[in-house]
Amino acid sequence: MSIKTPDPLVITIDGPAGAGKSTVARMVAETIGLPYLDTGAIYRAIAWWLNGMGIDPSDENGIRKALPCFSVSLCGSGISVAGKDVSKEIRGTEIDKIVSLYAAHKAIRESLLDLQRKQAADGLVADGRDMGTVVFPDAGLKIFLTASAEERAMRRYKERVSRGEKVNYEEILKQVKERDLYDINREEAPLRPASGCIILDSTSMTIKEVVDVIVSLAGEFGANDRN
Ligand code: CDP
Repeated sequence: MSIKTPDPLVITIDGPAGAGKSTVARMVAETIGLPYLDTGAIYRAIAWWLNGMGIDPSDENGIRKALPCFSVSLCGSGISVAGKDVSKEIRGTEIDKIVSLYAAHKAIRESLLDLQRKQAADGLVADGRDMGTVVFPDAGLKIFLTASAEERAMRRYKERVSRGEKVNYEEILKQVKERDLYDINREEAPLRPASGCIILDSTSMTIKEVVDVIVSLAGEFGANDRN
C-alpha cells in the first residue's frame, strides 16, 4: 500500500530498549512512503566515536570540546562517522553498555537537534526516546511503543543469536533494564510518553500487527491512501 500525505507528516515512535521501534518504524516508513530516521543509531555512533577517542562519559569538558568535530552521515540504513561505515560496530553489546551514559549529556543532545529536525522537511518516521517530547513535539502522530522487559530482552537475544553472536539472555535482560532506568531518570529529555501520544504495548503483538495499527492510525492522522 502506498499512502500520500497532504502535508509533510511526521510520525514519532518512542519507547524503551528493544521494543521493536526500529523494525516497526522502518516498515511503517516504507509502507507510507516516508523517509525513516533511526536516532538511536546517531546516539550509538556518537558514543562509539567518543569512546574510541578515550573520552569518558564522565568527562563533560572533553565531550564539549570534541563535539564540534563530530561528523556523521546517514545513508539509507547505514551510518558513517568521519567517512567510516560504523553500522555494525554500533550494534554490539559494548555500545549497549555505554550509549545511555553519553546520551544523558545535554551538550550531546543539543548538538543533534538540528541534524534530526532537518531530516523532516518531506515528512518522516523517526524513532528514539525523545522524538515526540522534544525533537518533534508537533508531530502529526506520536506513538509510545513498549513491551515487557522480558519480552524485549528475548527479542534482542534472538536478534543477536541470529547474527551468530554468543550472548546470554540474563545479561541482555539486565542491560535492557539498566538502560531503561538510565533513560527514564536522566534530566535531559527523559524517556516518557509524549503528550497526546498513543501507547502501544506490543508484548503479545506481532511486528506486522504493530505496523498495521500505526499505518491505519497514520491514515486517520492525515495520510490518504493513494490506491
Ligand atoms: O534499539 P534500542 O532500543 O536498543 O536503542 P536505540 O534506539 O538504538 O538507542 C540507544 C540509546 O541511545 C538509548 O538507550 C538512549 O540512551 C539513547 N537514545 C536517546 O537518548 N535518544 C534518542 N532519541 C535515541 C536514543
